[in-house]
Amino acid sequence: MNEGFMSRLYSPDDPTLSGSRVTGSPRFDTPRAAEFVELLRGQLPTKTFRHCLSVAEFMLTFHEEAGISREQAVNAGLLHDLCKAMKPAELNVAVEAHGLELTERQLDSPALLHGPVAAAVCEADLGIADPDVLDAIFWHTTGRPDWNAVGLALYLADFAEPLRTLGQAAEAREVLREEGFRAAVVYATKMKLDYVARQFTVDPTSAAFGNWVAEKWNG
Ligand SMILES: [Fe+2]
Ligand SMILES: [Fe+2]
Repeated sequence: MNEGFMSRLYSPDDPTLSGSRVTGSPRFDTPRAAEFVELLRGQLPTKTFRHCLSVAEFMLTFHEEAGISREQAVNAGLLHDLCKAMKPAELNVAVEAHGLELTERQLDSPALLHGPVAAAVCEADLGIADPDVLDAIFWHTTGRPDWNAVGLALYLADFAEPLRTLGQAAEAREVLREEGFRAAVVYATKMKLDYVARQFTVDPTSAAFGNWVAEKWNG
């Protein structure tokens, strides 16, 4: 890990962030949650910070149905966007420092890089050892075929958490309430891929994930 990033990571008193802090945070009763919330508070812009808390809180509402533990829900939800505010150059330094082996497409896109880098930071610097949590964080932007339950829950929550203003987020929450976890994952995956396809070239891993979800759960 490069020292510049780590010093920022552990500098909650960074004056450039003053005035953008969120006071008060939800109570998470899992080990180290308070530590992770403070880390995020010092590291992320307010909007992203609130989003991370919201993802974790939302995951707690359906963790049993998803088949994951409370600690997996909180850790994956809180930490998935830990590196979202890093600049492309910082992400590239972190990729080198952690020896991440990534595809050319991932390396070319900061939007696809913040997940893998966050997973590496969580493992190396925060001591997160749960392979499903690390894998969920690594792939949270695109998903991947044969993904684990933590990843599926994170993908759904990242799309549908209550602070998302998109109508499809509310719809995904409705599907979750009415039809359950699997139907909500199918819905979120389809909506996100359709959205991405209208604006960008769809990442091959995202497309493969969409096909896998549809085949697995959509009959
Ligand atoms: Fe993200
Ligand atoms: Fe996110």
